[in-house]
Amino acid sequence: MRLSKAARIILVGAPGVGKGTQAERLLQRFPQLSAISSGDLLRDNVKNQTPLGIKAESTMRSGALVPDAMILRLILHELKTRGWLFPPGGPTPMTLSSASMYAAQEDFDTDSFVEQPSLAYMSAPPQTSDDPSASFILDGFPRTAGQASQLDNLIPINLVVSLKTPFEVILERIAGRWVHAPSGRVYNTTFNAPKVPGKDDVTGEPLTKRSDDDEQTWKTRLRKFEETSEPLLEHYDRKGVLWTVEGNSSDEISPKLYDEFERRFATGA
Ligand SMILES: *[C@@H]1O[C@H](CO)[C@@H](O)[C@H](O)[C@H]1NC(C)=O
Ligand SMILES: *[C@@H]1O[C@H](CO)[C@@H](O)[C@H](O)[C@H]1NC(C)=O
Repeated sequence: MRLSKAARIILVGAPGVGKGTQAERLLQRFPQLSAISSGDLLRDNVKNQTPLGIKAESTMRSGALVPDAMILRLILHELKTRGWLFPPGGPTPMTLSSASMYAAQEDFDTDSFVEQPSLAYMSAPPQTSDDPSASFILDGFPRTAGQASQLDNLIPINLVVSLKTPFEVILERIAGRWVHAPSGRVYNTTFNAPKVPGKDDVTGEPLTKRSDDDEQTWKTRLRKFEETSEPLLEHYDRKGVLWTVEGNSSDEISPKLYDEFERRFATGA
């Protein structure tokens, strides 16, 4: 399905709600959509030893968290490299030759907006492309309302999807899931129970729980998620870009998500 304008979206959901599944399905269904993951950007920049990557690596070596400003720069730099971010005032005017246009684009310094956030408030912020091909799901950032505010003036997110599944449903799913670690075969006691309880169908070896399927671990992660996501969702609600979808399974959520996404970004395409 083709988009008619740029989608800049974020998915928010509790651990176990199937956020990754929904992101993958959206990417499949809307080929103009890209995934931009702050974690991947960080890893790639460290691996390629870019100036930012080197800085981030030494920060992490010292045991500190990579500061928000560094993550923001990675994201801005990525958008700029893809040609999705223009200097303030939009794409360089047509009166310039294409050579100088290119130079102006290259020279425009996104870092200054991160170094001096006031720049983005006081003067014109950089401009994101509204071309449908400049559509992306941003993953890993922002996680907090504070990070969202920092992002607002630089990259205006135009849809935040809050994925909701009742906690008892997620918990039941987690409790029912067992794996045969050596082969990776997954069983669940509701739909796909092993022939002999607790044993792998093929080898007869014992099944175990994945570490993130531990109920206590999940509850701890859920509490942490709720603490930071509540203010984050409130922030985007105030901006008027929050949309909530509920369902007991990924298959129940996906069609609703597709419909809303199409209504917002694909109508008239
Ligand atoms: C159980 O396993 C089946 C088959 O792999 C899968 O389709 C289903 O979504 C799973 N259900 C739960 C609750 O994990
Ligand atoms: C979803 O799960 C809840 C809690 O188990 C249940 O009350 C509700 O009927 C379910 N909804 C659907 C559409 O299956």
